[in-house]
Amino acid sequence: MKKKALAFALCVLLLTGCSGPAVETDGTAMLSEEVKYVALTFDDGPHEDTTAALLDGLKERGAAATFFLIGTEIAGKEDLVARMGAEGHQVGNHTWSHLRLETAPPETVVYEIQRTDEAIGAILGGSGYWLRTPYGLLPQSGETLLSVPLVKWSVDPRDWESRNKEKIVSAVMADIRPGSIILLHDIYQPSVEAALEIVDRLQAKGYWFVTVEELLRLYGIAPQPGVMYRSGK
Ligand code: NI
Repeated sequence: MKKKALAFALCVLLLTGCSGPAVETDGTAMLSEEVKYVALTFDDGPHEDTTAALLDGLKERGAAATFFLIGTEIAGKEDLVARMGAEGHQVGNHTWSHLRLETAPPETVVYEIQRTDEAIGAILGGSGYWLRTPYGLLPQSGETLLSVPLVKWSVDPRDWESRNKEKIVSAVMADIRPGSIILLHDIYQPSVEAALEIVDRLQAKGYWFVTVEELLRLYGIAPQPGVMYRSGK
């Protein structure tokens, strides 16, 4: 029995020279030109009350997202950050204290970004986590100060303002197109509920949810340090 199981496993792995009926060999036929990619992004977390439920819902749906974390929010919630990394999400930097970079001295800008990068790196390893600046604002010195790609957004339902699931869902559905980067905040319960409904509705329309890094790559963009990306197209 063991030998038989091993032979079957090898057949599955090699996908050639086997005649088992259960093996799908023509994988490329599954790729449709109709496939559309979008990126969900969540700022200002992680949050102890809402982020875990969001991660559960994304996992159930096979959807990836990108989380831009505030450095001061990380302590005590390292398990949530570790989950993001382990479950295929992209983790990014939203500064240490949600600083308005446009009015901050350059050394403060560097400190805010570096300290958050180190806090994320202490959990997930590595460094150079992509940056979303608070309010999408740039430091006075411009993008030259920044050594990683920057991520803005193309769809903003202003979830922090309405805190209303239905309003958030309809605002996103009205603006969405392939390549969109959607801005939400996983610190609000209505935003989390809206996000999962958005995933359900858009998956039914042939959309795939990928990280920002994947989105840019899928649309043929090679991300550069200090450049701000608003969508995949
Ligand atoms: Ni923010």
